[in-house]
Amino acid sequence: MRFDGLLLPLLGLAVSADSAPGLPDVTTTNLTAQQFPELGSRRVETAYGSHVVQPRSQQDGMSKFQSAIPPPCTECLVTFMQAQLEYANGTTADATTGMWMHHVVFLNRGRKDSVCDMPAQRFFASGNERTAVDFTSTFSAAGTQHLGYPIRANESFFVVGELMNMLNTSQEVVFSMIWEYLPSPRPYFKHAIPYWLDVGGCGDSDVPAKSVSQFAYTSPVLNASFHGTIALIAGHLHDGGTHLDVFRNERSVCTTVATYTSANVTDDHIARIDSCTNAGVTAPGDQWFIKAYYDTVAHPPMAANDGSLEPVMGIALAYLVASEPLTRSWLSRGTLIVVIVTAVMATGLAALYVVRQKSDFVSQLWDGVGARGWQRVRTSDPGTDDLGDEDGLLLRDEEGRK
Ligand SMILES: *[C@@H]1O[C@H](CO)[C@@H](O)[C@H](O)[C@H]1NC(C)=O
Ligand SMILES: *[C@@H]1O[C@H](CO)[C@@H](O)[C@H](O)[C@H]1NC(C)=O
Ligand SMILES: *[C@@H]1O[C@H](CO)[C@@H](O)[C@H](O)[C@H]1NC(C)=O
Ligand SMILES: *[C@@H]1O[C@H](CO)[C@@H](O)[C@H](O)[C@H]1NC(C)=O
Ligand SMILES: *[C@@H]1O[C@H](CO)[C@@H](O)[C@H](O)[C@H]1NC(C)=O
Ligand SMILES: *[C@@H]1O[C@H](CO)[C@@H](O)[C@H](O)[C@H]1NC(C)=O
Repeated sequence: MRFDGLLLPLLGLAVSADSAPGLPDVTTTNLTAQQFPELGSRRVETAYGSHVVQPRSQQDGMSKFQSAIPPPCTECLVTFMQAQLEYANGTTADATTGMWMHHVVFLNRGRKDSVCDMPAQRFFASGNERTAVDFTSTFSAAGTQHLGYPIRANESFFVVGELMNMLNTSQEVVFSMIWEYLPSPRPYFKHAIPYWLDVGGCGDSDVPAKSVSQFAYTSPVLNASFHGTIALIAGHLHDGGTHLDVFRNERSVCTTVATYTSANVTDDHIARIDSCTNAGVTAPGDQWFIKAYYDTVAHPPMAANDGSLEPVMGIALAYLVASEPLTRSWLSRGTLIVVIVTAVMATGLAALYVVRQKSDFVSQLWDGVGARGWQRVRTSDPGTDDLGDEDGLLLRDEEGRK
C-alpha cells in the first residue's frame, strides 16, 4: 500500500474521506457471541456497502478504497477481529474465484500511532489470508486471555484497502468484518497496544520484488522504552514470501510462516499466515526489528499486465500489554541478583580460602574458580540498571524517523 496515499487524507492535506467508492452504508448483523457470553459479550458482522472491482485489463484489476467508518461499539473492548470478502450471496471471494482482498488497514483517529509519527493508530490489518486477531488466544505469565483493544467514546475509525480482480469481467463484492467485543469490560481486562513493524519503516510499505531468487528485507530497529508482554503478532507477506521473523535483540522470538494454496505454480497464492501468541517480554533498551523472507523460485510473485512485478511487503503487527515497571527501590531485581551472586561467591571463596591453607593442589583450583566467578558477576551487571522507564509507551526507530 502506498502510505503517501494513505497519509494525505489522514493529515487532512487532500482527498475527502467520502471519495471512497462503494464503502458507505454499514449493515450490522448480530451473531452468536463465542468468547465471553457470561460477561455480556457481543459478536457482530459489519458489512460495508458493496464494491464493484473493474476487470483485470483496467489498472491491473486493482481497486482502492478509503473511508471513515463507525467503530462497531463505543466505550467497549474488542476481543476478536477478522476481515472477510464475499459475493452478495455470501460465498467467499478469494484466489480460487479470482477476487482477492489485497489488503485492508484499520486506523483509529482517536489515538496516535505507536511506532510512526502518524495522527492515527494502525490497529488492524489483513491480506487475503484473513488472519483473525483473537486476543483470547493469548495466555502468558504476565499477560492473560483477558485482553482486548479498547475503543473510547471520542474515537473514530478510518479504513483503507485494495481489492484485486483477476478476471476479465468486473466483479461485485462485499467487504465485511467480524467483531467480538465486551460492551462493559471488567477492570481485570488488559489493553493491547498495536505496534506496526514494517520493512518499509515509516514510509511506503511497498518494496521491490525480485524474480526467481531468494531475498529478504529487514525493517529499521525500534528501541523499546517500557516493560511489557508481546501477546500476539500477526504477519503480512505477499506472494513469494515464505516467512517472517520478529527479532528481539538479534534473537528471533516469533516466526510466522506462509502456507500456499497449492504446489500448482500457475495458480499458487498465500492462503494462510500463522500468527504468534506470547512472544515473550520487552524491556527498556530492547531493540526490535523484523525480517521478511521471499523465495520467488518456489512461489512466483504477482505481476502486472505489462509483466512488471508487483511490489511486496513485510509487516508484523504486534500487540503489546504494558506491565508495571519494576519498583524504584534500591532492591531492584538486578540489584537482588548481584547481591545473591556476591553472597554465594563470598561464601565459596571463604570456604576455598580455608581449604587453600592446607593444599597446594586446591590452590590451583582456587585461581580457576575465582576467575570464572568474577566473569559471572560481570555478565550480570547490565541487570543492575533495570529500572523502569515509567512514561514511555513509544518506540523510536533507528534513524529517528518517527
Ligand atoms: C442486535 O443486538 C442488539 C443488542 O442486543 C439489539 O439492540 C438489536 O436490535 C439487534 N439487532 C437485530 C437486527 O436483531
Ligand atoms: C455466488 O455468487 C458468485 C458471484 O456472482 C457466483 O460465482 C457463485 O456461483 C454464487 N454462488 C452460489 C452458491 O450461488
Ligand atoms: C479521548 O478521551 C480520552 C479520555 O477518555 C482523552 O484522554 C483523549 O485525549 C481524548 N482524545 C481525543 C482525540 O479527544
Ligand atoms: C483475459 O484476457 C487476456 C487478454 O485478452 C487473456 O490473455 C487472458 O487469458 C484472459 N484471462 C482470463 C482469466 O480469462
Ligand atoms: C493449476 O491452476 C490452473 C489455474 O487455476 C488450473 O487451470 C490447473 O488445472 C491447475 N493444475 C493443477 C495440476 O491443479
Ligand atoms: C537505539 O538504540 C541504539 C543502541 O543503544 C542507539 O545507537 C540508537 O541511537 C537508538 N535509536 C534511537 C532512535 O534512539
